[in-house]
Amino acid sequence: MEPMIKVENLPKKYGEFVAVDDVSFVAQPGRVTGFLGPNGAGKTTTMRMMVGLTAPDRGSVTIGGHDYHDIPNPGRHIGVLLDASAQHAGRTGREVLSLGASVMGLPSSRVDEMLALVSLDDREANRRVRNFSLGMRQRLGIAHALLGDPEVLILDEPANGLDPAGIRWMRGLLKGYADRGGAVLLSSHLLHEVEQIADEMIVIGQGRIVARGDRETLLAGRVGSSSQVNSLDNELLHAKLEASGLGVEPAGPARSVKGSTEAVGRVAADNGSSSPSSAPWARASRTCSSN
Ligand SMILES: Nc1ncnc2c1ncn2[C@@H]1O[C@H](COP(=O)(O)OP(=O)(O)OP(=O)(O)O)[C@@H](O)[C@H]1O
Ligand SMILES: [Mg+2]
Repeated sequence: MEPMIKVENLPKKYGEFVAVDDVSFVAQPGRVTGFLGPNGAGKTTTMRMMVGLTAPDRGSVTIGGHDYHDIPNPGRHIGVLLDASAQHAGRTGREVLSLGASVMGLPSSRVDEMLALVSLDDREANRRVRNFSLGMRQRLGIAHALLGDPEVLILDEPANGLDPAGIRWMRGLLKGYADRGGAVLLSSHLLHEVEQIADEMIVIGQGRIVARGDRETLLAGRVGSSSQVNSLDNELLHAKLEASGLGVEPAGPARSVKGSTEAVGRVAADNGSSSPSSAPWARASRTCSSN
């Protein structure tokens, strides 16, 4: 299948600082693709380059086979939410959507549909954006991105500020959207958020793609992911993991283990259970890396 979004060799330097280093990836129609990485990894910069807000140093991005700048009435094809707080603070939520609808040539009934979709009631929609809570801003931003009934959604940290019910709601919304054939690219700095929503994952760190694949493969640790493990007795844990055939290396005071947290957990449980006094297993957190 032809990818809906194709990013090829996209670097961005600010002076000597490499914000994004030659990033390439695709996002397919009918899939939610998570773009995961810690703060400062380059997610927003990449997304801004995708929609022509930041000029890349070279490389290319096509969406549905076209450069963003060549798409007439882009809001009808690509829904974008980059910074939910960037809306004009003095406008009401309804005004923000009405303006968007008029720019895109949509009937005003679409505004009401979108407000209902994101559960902003009349009273809330008539408040000025400066008085919106963060979660309300995100909802408004999602409504704005969906306004033109686009085939592609590019959402930067859309779950920020949403409560657990809001995150569940958004997951259902995006899944439904992808099931109808839409392509979603959504960024987050939280693995647990992305793994709940995304079918595919692209992991970025320090401006480079460090892992990619479908969710199951990535989470099963088959593409070279490692787990950061910490316990009350790392020496003992180290020995047990090594004895069970998992590669272990010191990572500061913790250990980096070639394997999934599940595999580490099994070793820990098996060994910890034999002697309660040597049950030091405290915490295993998961990171993905290319090595
Ligand atoms: N206009 C700019 N000038 C200089 N450096 C910048 C600029 N924009 C971004 N950067 C730097 O580029 C790097 C990537 O930033 P970016 O905003 O893309 O990260 P991010 O992955 O979106 O992070 P976060 O999770 O915090 O949103 C950061 O180190 C940032 O300081
Ligand atoms: Mg960002």
